Amino acid sequence: MHFLKDRGYVHLAGSEITPRRLYEGRREMLRSLAAGAGGIALATWASRDALAEVSRPGKLTALPGARSSVAGAMTLEKLTPYADATSYNNYYEFGTDKSDPARNAGTLKTRPWTVSVEGEIKKPKVYDIDELLKLSAMEERVYRMRCVEGWSMVIPWVGYSLAELIKRVEPTGNAKYVEFTTLADRSMMPGVGSRVLEWPYIEGLRMDEAMHPLALLTFGIYGEVLPNQNGAPVRAVVPWKYGFKSGKSIVRIRFVEKEPRTSWNKAASSEYGFYSNVNPNVDHPRWSQATERRIGEDGLFQKKRATLMFNGYEAQVGQLYAGMDLKKFF
Ligand code: MTE
Repeated sequence: MHFLKDRGYVHLAGSEITPRRLYEGRREMLRSLAAGAGGIALATWASRDALAEVSRPGKLTALPGARSSVAGAMTLEKLTPYADATSYNNYYEFGTDKSDPARNAGTLKTRPWTVSVEGEIKKPKVYDIDELLKLSAMEERVYRMRCVEGWSMVIPWVGYSLAELIKRVEPTGNAKYVEFTTLADRSMMPGVGSRVLEWPYIEGLRMDEAMHPLALLTFGIYGEVLPNQNGAPVRAVVPWKYGFKSGKSIVRIRFVEKEPRTSWNKAASSEYGFYSNVNPNVDHPRWSQATERRIGEDGLFQKKRATLMFNGYEAQVGQLYAGMDLKKFF
């Protein structure tokens, strides 16, 4: 994984990267503003400035991103500590306990790695991961991640809009959906022997969802390349949907005419719909989705948080579902 250190990110202009001291400068400015008139509201806002807390854990290869200007991409909530985001995971190919992926994913080899982009497109291509990394400028985006199980995190992701890749491969008029296939290699993934899901793990999006600027093709977190347990070397992050829609360790992206059959939908179609938009008003058949537990801040007396419609991204994505019965298309 040291390849990046040597090469750096030549495609990313140095001036686009927001250095840490700028974040800190901004925090200072907010503090001094907060001390003045109307200080209370500003002080609250300043203390919630998530970016003020971004710093590299210094564990993996650096992968900086320019602060994103995409609407809604920069949640100001407090970041989940790196240690929690990288030790409490769902990645069933490495086991079903939350601590299994961090313990077992060391066996995942992320080089060489290719992603085959195929199907209803004019320019099918097998991308080497290092080429895919350089396809578009890296951005940092602070997204809430809400798991269908009722917990959430706030993570600074690094990547670029999936739309950047989609535009380059020129979908045909028959491309109505995008299907993501992730790695299923028994030699590296102990969980692939289990029958908990059908392997490989498959996910999908409708074309307009995949083209939405918030849908992120993700290569890093906290300014570094993705740890294996978080889906190295490349994963999807679709912040307005339950976390299982965001497939990890992608090896194939296929453009298709029909709605893809996704792994969780095949496993329990009455529980996990194709859309799976975060929705506090549509309960899972076995539990409520109205509230959530924020990882890293839970204690005995910690109050649960109210889950937000579309995970808080309603202003940005709500129109994609205008006129749809969200109880039916859950
Ligand atoms: N991708 C694969 N290949 N296998 C998985 O088991 N779990 C999903 C999703 N992507 C999963 C996956 C679920 S249920 C969630 S909540 C998120 O990954 C968790 O991402 P995180 O561990 O980075 O927070």
